[in-house]
Amino acid sequence: QFVPDRGGNDRETTMERIVILTGAGVSAESGLGTFRDKGGLWSQYDLEDVATPQGYARDPELVLGFYNARRQNCRAAEPNAAHAALARLQRARAGVTLVTQNIDDLHERGGASEVLHMHGELMQALCAACGHRWGWSGDMGLGDACPACGAAGTVRPDVVWFGEMPYLMDEIFARLAAATLFVSIGTSGAVYPAAGFVDEAAAQGAETLEINLEPSEGSRLFERQILGPATETVPAWVDALLAGGGGA
Ligand code: NAD
Ligand code: APR
Repeated sequence: QFVPDRGGNDRETTMERIVILTGAGVSAESGLGTFRDKGGLWSQYDLEDVATPQGYARDPELVLGFYNARRQNCRAAEPNAAHAALARLQRARAGVTLVTQNIDDLHERGGASEVLHMHGELMQALCAACGHRWGWSGDMGLGDACPACGAAGTVRPDVVWFGEMPYLMDEIFARLAAATLFVSIGTSGAVYPAAGFVDEAAAQGAETLEINLEPSEGSRLFERQILGPATETVPAWVDALLAGGGGA
């Protein structure tokens, strides 16, 4: 596989290493709301009330209700052609890392093998007292005791809130440091550290590509951009890549 370096010269590389970051836009056509688009979640709820540790401490029932509603929507949703195309790419190529800011499980249900959930997972529960994680089942609530420490009233969704450290950052930065291509799909580039991944990748010579419905806050940082709905743009990009076209 030849990957042109930033000087435009071809340099042989043993294997392409592709890091793909997805955001809410990749699940939008499955019917799951985004955050900052028109009518997005942050225009319906006050982020401070439902997506911060302070909000959970103030009113845990409100927070659990917010995520229960999102979990129900997620269970009713189906993976779309973008999720399926990324899974197809993972099956066809070694060295494809899929990092997502999304907490839904549509990448997995669309056939993805390894998904790095940097903001956690809606289908996982976390004990706020002891840190134990277990699968969210049915209509779990504050009355349910933690299966590990027995505490009651401490269950929360295993989701990273504003002010908390995202998960898997060491692993993600290690993959970015070795990437030959970084692709961002369906994210507004509004929230760090995800919004800074393109800089990390470009700084060590990776090609960079943004696939989004419209320009994002980070668009100027990418060498190349493909605009359009993910269910059209992502399968077309994967087909071109697997047909031997360059990455970006
Ligand atoms: P951050 O401080 O990097 O977030 C800054 C961005 O979040 C802002 O640009 C804005 O877009 C948004 N934001 C923050 N406070 C806001 C407010 N009061 N009203 C509207 N928008 C607001 O994020 P952080 O505090 O470092 O959070 C750590 C991580 O947790 C971030 O990566 C974030 O994406 C993640 N997170 C996940 C969820 C979730 O439901 N999965 C919710 C919130 C945060
Ligand atoms: N196809 C491709 N992109 C789309 C589509 C679509 N069908 N629909 C929307 N988009 C794009 C929008 O143009 C926007 O740039 O997806 C992006 C969604 O941006 P946000 O709503 O900000 O979602 P995201 O970038 O994932 O938010 C990042 O912020 O609140 C936190 O933790 C939360 O993970 C979230 C993080």
